[in-house]
Amino acid sequence: MAAQPLPSVAITPMGAGDVAQVTALDAAAFTLPWPRQAFEAQLKANPAAHFFVLRPLAEPHALWGSAGYWLVVGEAHIATLAVDPQQRNRGLGKLLLQAMLTDAHAHGGCSATLEVRESNMVAQHLYARFGFVLVGRRKNYYTDNHEDALLMTASSLGSVPPLICEVHP
Ligand SMILES: CC(C)(COP(=O)(O)OP(=O)(O)OC[C@H]1O[C@@H](n2cnc3c(N)ncnc32)[C@H](O)[C@@H]1OP(=O)(O)O)[C@@H](O)C(=O)NCCC(=O)NCCS
Repeated sequence: MAAQPLPSVAITPMGAGDVAQVTALDAAAFTLPWPRQAFEAQLKANPAAHFFVLRPLAEPHALWGSAGYWLVVGEAHIATLAVDPQQRNRGLGKLLLQAMLTDAHAHGGCSATLEVRESNMVAQHLYARFGFVLVGRRKNYYTDNHEDALLMTASSLGSVPPLICEVHP
């Protein structure tokens, strides 16, 4: 159960004007963050990329979440998902993941896959809630601590659970 009530938020496609804040959030969320240029490249040069930002309606200049996936031959690969550390455990990660899976299904995606750190139990729990199951392991995947990545797959995007929380467009 989320610790705080879900705020009203907007999830919108990431644009060039979002990249500075997304890069800062990424640095706060990950030990191996992406450089700014990596996000810019998604927007400018990767037609398979579908990236999003989440902002609170009451504070539209604040960035509380970002997420992105690549759609390749009917499979959505979750590339990134991050929520502001101050805003976690409020249901926002679920909203972002649901937005990605719904968007992928709308674009013809049939399945989804991702890698997650073996130690990242919160993320694994979140993914399991959306039907992801463990299908493999990539040994020494993360270069900072040589941690294994778990490979998780959701085989049917058409059966993503109905909206858990209301999203205000
Ligand atoms: C993983 C992450 C995106 C989750 O975002 P979030 O907004 O906190 O997640 P939600 O509030 O939607 O919660 C999702 C589930 O995890 C649970 N959860 C969230 N934080 C938790 C915590 N600290 N301890 C235990 N469970 C927790 C929630 O209860 C919920 O489960 P439920 O629906 O069964 O109640 C966020 O923790 C994050 O940005 N982490 C750093 C980046 C990261 O690891 N990204 C994933 C890479 S694979």
